Amino acid sequence: MKKLLITLLVALCALPAAADEGMWLPSLISSRIKDMRAKGFRLTADDIYSINRASMKDAVVLFGGGCTGEIVSEEGLLLTNHHCGYGAIADHSTVGHDYLTHGFWARSRAEELPNERLNVRILVRMEEVTDRLAAGEKADEILAAARAEGVGYKASIEQMYYGNQQFLFVYEQFDDVRLVGAPPSSIGKFGGDTDNWIWPRHTGDFSVFRIYASKENKPAAYSPDNVPYRPRRHFTISTRGIGEGDFTMIYGFPGNTQEYILSDAVAYIAERSDPAKIAIRTGRLELIGAAQESDPALRIHYAARHASIANAWKKWQGEVLGIRRMKAYEAKCDYERRFAAWAADKEEYADVLALLKAEYARIADPYFAREITAETLATLPARYSAEERAADYFARLEGTERALFRFVFGQYAERCPAAYRIDEFDQGVAEDGSPEAYADRVFEGVWSGSDTTTIDRLRAGMKREQRRIADELGTQALRNLNSRRLSELYTRYLRGLMEWDTERAFFPDANLTLRVAYGSVAGYEYADGEYHKPQTTLDGIIAKDNPAIYDYDIPQALRDLHASKEYGRWATEIDGRRTVPVCFLATNQTTGGNSGSPILNARGELVGINFDRTWRSTMSDIVFDPTICRNIAVDIRYVLFTIDRIGGAGYLIDEMTLR
Ligand code: ARG
Ligand code: GLU
Repeated sequence: MKKLLITLLVALCALPAAADEGMWLPSLISSRIKDMRAKGFRLTADDIYSINRASMKDAVVLFGGGCTGEIVSEEGLLLTNHHCGYGAIADHSTVGHDYLTHGFWARSRAEELPNERLNVRILVRMEEVTDRLAAGEKADEILAAARAEGVGYKASIEQMYYGNQQFLFVYEQFDDVRLVGAPPSSIGKFGGDTDNWIWPRHTGDFSVFRIYASKENKPAAYSPDNVPYRPRRHFTISTRGIGEGDFTMIYGFPGNTQEYILSDAVAYIAERSDPAKIAIRTGRLELIGAAQESDPALRIHYAARHASIANAWKKWQGEVLGIRRMKAYEAKCDYERRFAAWAADKEEYADVLALLKAEYARIADPYFAREITAETLATLPARYSAEERAADYFARLEGTERALFRFVFGQYAERCPAAYRIDEFDQGVAEDGSPEAYADRVFEGVWSGSDTTTIDRLRAGMKREQRRIADELGTQALRNLNSRRLSELYTRYLRGLMEWDTERAFFPDANLTLRVAYGSVAGYEYADGEYHKPQTTLDGIIAKDNPAIYDYDIPQALRDLHASKEYGRWATEIDGRRTVPVCFLATNQTTGGNSGSPILNARGELVGINFDRTWRSTMSDIVFDPTICRNIAVDIRYVLFTIDRIGGAGYLIDEMTLR
């Protein structure tokens, strides 16, 4: 048993330093450069990040506050994912100009479409300010000084290693970002939810934007007088392609990982939180799916909702599977036992694990209540808008909407810890006799519009309860099972871990700050005899093509191109076939927020755009398995092929730098 645990521990702790785990701070990348170069990287730390000269970081943007994008021309042309540009594409779509369905290609600068709610940020610099803060400087003053440095400057201070280090990030924010191009959804979303998180994959998940600036090349609110932004740096594109084993690097904004959490939190995620959330979403998806099956208008009505529910639902299933498969809980327990033995005679650390565990026991119920509320009652509409009511199919929504009310009321009653249930809810159930009968009453008021006070009372109760829980946890800022006290204890625990586990290559958890991940193009063997090649091609799209299945119905133009084999300069020989490459797999550690990130070769040239992981990889937010964790990128050659041969927008390619 002991031996087994040690083997697991080695898998958990020792391998990652040698393998491709890690999301590194660009300003400190010099500490990884030796390893990167040993794995094939040809450039220097200064090429990745420099404040004195143009470097790659000047070509990477935080796109829309939750995705990544990359600049690919001297005139501010930007690539990101289709699912990241989706909101902008949808906003410009009408029945007459349905850009989601048919795609969109601006034929001139004048046709590029402004987007009111979209901005991008470019990192000006990052700088550790731990010592300055410790010396008594005020965070507000540091931030105010940074914001005063330039037009459109934004600044924030972010914690690394649970506050053991604090970094100032200074960004230049551009608010005039215009839509330039998007493939039809049948390419940009090819495979839909069916293929989401799945390999083999064939999605052309990209869209094209352009940053505009004032005549002085500074950030400016939208104006017809603005001009294309001239970046300090843009990425050169490699059309030579990639092969298994080639070095890859991802430069982007990963959102949230939890690499250092205790076994208690791993158990909470894999045995309590994820299973409950999966079960609730399964129920909602069944109701919505049945409506979609039965009625084409309802299929469209629920499409966006279905996609967003299904995305995390599938991810959590992979997370639970991966955590269990790796025995991450057991491995963490053993790691903690060994840490505790080391810490026993050290005053600073001796009690920290016990205190952390006690705090976990205190906060698990209130945090779980928050999660259950978010997955149930908070998903319900308080009103149906005039626009919804005007839809000719509105009446046909009633059955499904009522069933959703009943289902989530029942789930809330069953799963929310009683001490954190909303009083108004318990009263309603007592009055009507069951959660479902109470759901009917609330629903009928909302549906007819005749009584919205009942749901408003419930929502006020929800708000009050959320505030009470936030008070109990000592913080509003909760992305994970956490509390103010827990964060303080983790500061100490992490310091202890780093003192004790000197062999481990520590990197700060993802927190939507700019990071570098590196690895290589690689397939994976999930089970004996089940090897997945790292590259897909146009032939795979044609094999999936089926006009009767919405997710697999491709544009006729793509069928025609495949039939005539007129691939132009994008044709490549793969496994002895002349075809077009579509997606590829690599070993880089990524997470939500890395969507749209540039994936670069050893020379720093763009070879793909990151857009997903395999669902069996998603435990990597907690524990990384180098043998199976893979990110999924769209091959840049498929992006160029689509722009050129499907969009007829070769003039955009002329503006890029191809090698
Ligand atoms: N799984 C990817 C991500 O987490 C893509 C999601 C968008 N695509 C979809 N079919 N829902 O965001
Ligand atoms: N599609 C995700 C995103 O929007 C990336 C997938 C992942 O979690 O790795 O950021």
